[in-house]
Amino acid sequence: MTTFRTLDDADVSNKRVLLRVDLNVPMDAGRVTDATRIERVLPTIREIAGKGGKVILLAHFGRPKGRDLKDSLAPVAKAVEQHLGQPVAFATDCVGEPAATAVAAMKPGDVLLLENTRFHPEEEKNDPAFVQALAANGDLWVSDAFSAAHRAHASTEGLGHVLPAYAGRTMQAEVEALSKALEAPQRPVLAVVGGAKVSSKLELLGNLVKKVDILVIGGGMANTFLAAQGKAVGKSLCEKDLLDTARSILETAKQAGCEIVLPVDAVVAGEFKANAPSRVVTVDAVGPDDMILDIGPASVVTVGEKLAQAKTLVWNGPFGAFELTPFDEGTTSAAKAAAKLTKQGRLLSVAGGGDTVSALNHAGVAEDFSYVSTAGGAFLEWLEGKPLPGVDILRVR
Ligand code: 3PG
Ligand code: MG
Repeated sequence: MTTFRTLDDADVSNKRVLLRVDLNVPMDAGRVTDATRIERVLPTIREIAGKGGKVILLAHFGRPKGRDLKDSLAPVAKAVEQHLGQPVAFATDCVGEPAATAVAAMKPGDVLLLENTRFHPEEEKNDPAFVQALAANGDLWVSDAFSAAHRAHASTEGLGHVLPAYAGRTMQAEVEALSKALEAPQRPVLAVVGGAKVSSKLELLGNLVKKVDILVIGGGMANTFLAAQGKAVGKSLCEKDLLDTARSILETAKQAGCEIVLPVDAVVAGEFKANAPSRVVTVDAVGPDDMILDIGPASVVTVGEKLAQAKTLVWNGPFGAFELTPFDEGTTSAAKAAAKLTKQGRLLSVAGGGDTVSALNHAGVAEDFSYVSTAGGAFLEWLEGKPLPGVDILRVR
């Protein structure tokens, strides 16, 4: 396993520490609706502040084109302050005079948040002059933003070229959990991949079938695989142009010795609506007007058996339309089964991706998984086997 410089190696006392965090949190009417990402970076902030460092938070918010105050981090500074329980100052720009003045006013242990790095288009271009402008306010750089580590931006990657670079505690935990799950895992490894579309997860499936022992496919994308096997899927979500692709994934899996598990039965309804009248059918008996909205009870049993065989689980994507009752049952049952095995010490379970985290929260078991990643895109790219620039820059060379 590669090593990282961590906070154990950093002398932060009285230093200006540029700490890249992911504060791209869901907001509604100026209020943070899910503070998970804020909570996750508190240990790193507290540790640096506790050791007498000056904590200068760098973060992006949304995808603004230039300076656009609807994507200001000012309300997020207030939220961080509340969760941290200590004042968090705010500067109206991440570079230039506003940042320099705010940083100059800091005492050891203080915390400052700089305005959205994406107000400058140079951030996403990883522009060297912009990297220098950011670096002017720091003595060292700590990255705790795994969930933005798939971006090679100035604040997520560029700073690592010009300042001493360290992984924060969340970055460290995230990379350790993910490495345990795919780099040197206890076998058998089972992957659950769900969600609507095969097309958005082609690279993911292609990589996983070569790495894991069992791949359970659920959600709308399972329909494409069922159709590829010649089954009728009625009005269900199905990517008809990807049947050959699905067949070739099945073939690759076979050659790699990866067992693919598809649903054997389904909960079908006439419409995509909560509490729509539904019935359970085998996957050979889906009618022309049926829409598959969840896996059926026999499939839930099979998934439970496979989970019980596995020692390691990686999970991305729900089994059904979990946001609509009662079509959440398949996902919820499987999530509970995985949580129980984890609590019994029989399974290392790692899950990630926006929908997946909502589904686990919905099932009330997110706390019971070994590790739940707050990353969406970065988690997927890691599962796809792609290098993450914001992680690679931290590796000791
Ligand atoms: C996220 O929310 O997934 C990360 O913060 C990255 O955001 P981005 O997809 O806009 O780069
Ligand atoms: Mg994203």
